[in-house]
Amino acid sequence: MIEVSALTKRYGDFTAVRDLSFTVQPGEVLGLVGPNGAGKTSTLRSLAGIIPASSGLVRLAGHDLATDPVGAKRHLAFFPDEPRLFDYLTVRQHLAFVARIYGVAQHETISEPLLVELEIADKADQLPGELSRGMKQKLAIACGLLHGPKVMFFDEPLTGLDPLGIRRMKDSILRRAREGAAIVLSSHLLHLLQEVCSHVLILKKGEKIAHGTLTDVSAQFSNGEANVSLEEVFIRATGGSEN
Ligand SMILES: Nc1ncnc2c1ncn2[C@@H]1O[C@H](COP(=O)(O)OP(=O)(O)O)[C@@H](O)[C@H]1O
Ligand SMILES: [Mg+2]
Repeated sequence: MIEVSALTKRYGDFTAVRDLSFTVQPGEVLGLVGPNGAGKTSTLRSLAGIIPASSGLVRLAGHDLATDPVGAKRHLAFFPDEPRLFDYLTVRQHLAFVARIYGVAQHETISEPLLVELEIADKADQLPGELSRGMKQKLAIACGLLHGPKVMFFDEPLTGLDPLGIRRMKDSILRRAREGAAIVLSSHLLHLLQEVCSHVLILKKGEKIAHGTLTDVSAQFSNGEANVSLEEVFIRATGGSEN
């Protein structure tokens, strides 16, 4: 569903992501972790076609992102760490606008339950300026889910949410995975990632240093102990946050 082969992203002479390959199957949630500056956002933006990769192949739901970007983008949703909203559209108008862009017919049958699921139904007629950071994030997520994407990229989706919001977001992500979406999620909230992810990929200075199921990656850094937490794995794998 998500196929990434030898992805490299350079900014000028600086290589932010080097020769990265992995796949994510329907129903899988891949946690992308690594210290600040490891290249998580650069990877997610390249996979979503927000910025061009310098080299490598990306296929999403069978569509090559470079040669068939519209086909690929029809199936994906990208949730940035800082959601961008329209100042003069209400919550409900955002959803109507996005539905028009993606050609979602009778979108109210999808958007109204989404507002309830994400707990912003009571804000439906408010403008972004009247919403808290967490609510803006929820609105951006409702907009992204409207067209039923098969491939989802989340960059730090849990930051800025309250504990209940985090739990709801986890449930929403897991539900989309159960329904067959392939998901990549970056977060520093490792104890939460551990509850959501089937797989984990650890990046350090743009390079993949570990990748596999949570169990396999934990075993790789366990020194023989049972049940090593992802946080402990992260610290052992990356030598702490040195950037
Ligand atoms: N637009 C850009 N121009 C130049 N360098 C960038 C740009 N975006 C990110 N970088 C650099 O690429 C590296 C990876 O950044 P980023 O992908 O944001 O990492 P992460 O999301 O893991 O914190 C960092 O060293 C960062 O400074
Ligand atoms: Mg980032």
